Amino acid sequence: MKSIREVLRAKKDGNKITMVTAYDYPSAMLAEIAGIDTILVGDSIGNNVMGYSSTVKVNTDDIIRAIKMVKRGAPNTFIVGDLPMGSYQISEEKTIENSILLLKAGANAVKLEGANNLNTVFKMVKFGIPVMGHIGLLPQSINQLGGYRTQGKSEKKREILIEQAKELEKAGAFSIVLEMVEENTAKTITQELKIPTIGIGSGKGCDGQVLVWHDLLGVNKDVPRFVKKYENLYDRIINALKEYITEVKEELFPK
Ligand code: KIV
Repeated sequence: MKSIREVLRAKKDGNKITMVTAYDYPSAMLAEIAGIDTILVGDSIGNNVMGYSSTVKVNTDDIIRAIKMVKRGAPNTFIVGDLPMGSYQISEEKTIENSILLLKAGANAVKLEGANNLNTVFKMVKFGIPVMGHIGLLPQSINQLGGYRTQGKSEKKREILIEQAKELEKAGAFSIVLEMVEENTAKTITQELKIPTIGIGSGKGCDGQVLVWHDLLGVNKDVPRFVKKYENLYDRIINALKEYITEVKEELFPK
């Protein structure tokens, strides 16, 4: 996919949208060759690449650098750049300025967490900045949430999430990530919106799915319970490295 129009059409046509995170040139290149629809340069770069325990310490420059690498690897794929913690909470001006930096680096759209910035989202869209929303579990608020738990289980929370999704749509978001949203709630949101929902740990009722590169491929040993590992690169990489070490030590390589 190359445009928002294609993303929106996928929902209309009932075609599921695929998204994977990527943070560098080789992963983006492989994702594009494999035929992924969309790439998210997520602030999960913090946990998966930078060695942080959460996404909170990631800053705008980290995302910009990653977008530039991803764009070079996947020039023909729709790229969403994450606005990290601190880049959109301070002021409307700062949010728009940071969003433009992400677009100039090569992103086709930006994503921000929560539904507290509806007026800003409205303005961003008016200024030509495509916005993807993100509700449910919000990793940037992990210090407040106190843990990674399914959201929208109680009737009250469910109603809040449905309302947030509708408000984001009304503000002009072209799509919304639903993270760890209880699956019936996610299904209802998906049915009630015209724009596509992209789920992560929110069941099969969403219009598309996103997974973190290092989880999907099993580079991470421990992954969230909703993840399916399509490979086990953790073991395979260690085994390959061990073989290399042994062969050099035993003078089997080079031949
Ligand atoms: O940064 C990220 O990887 C994300 C996904 C969890 C949707 O925001």
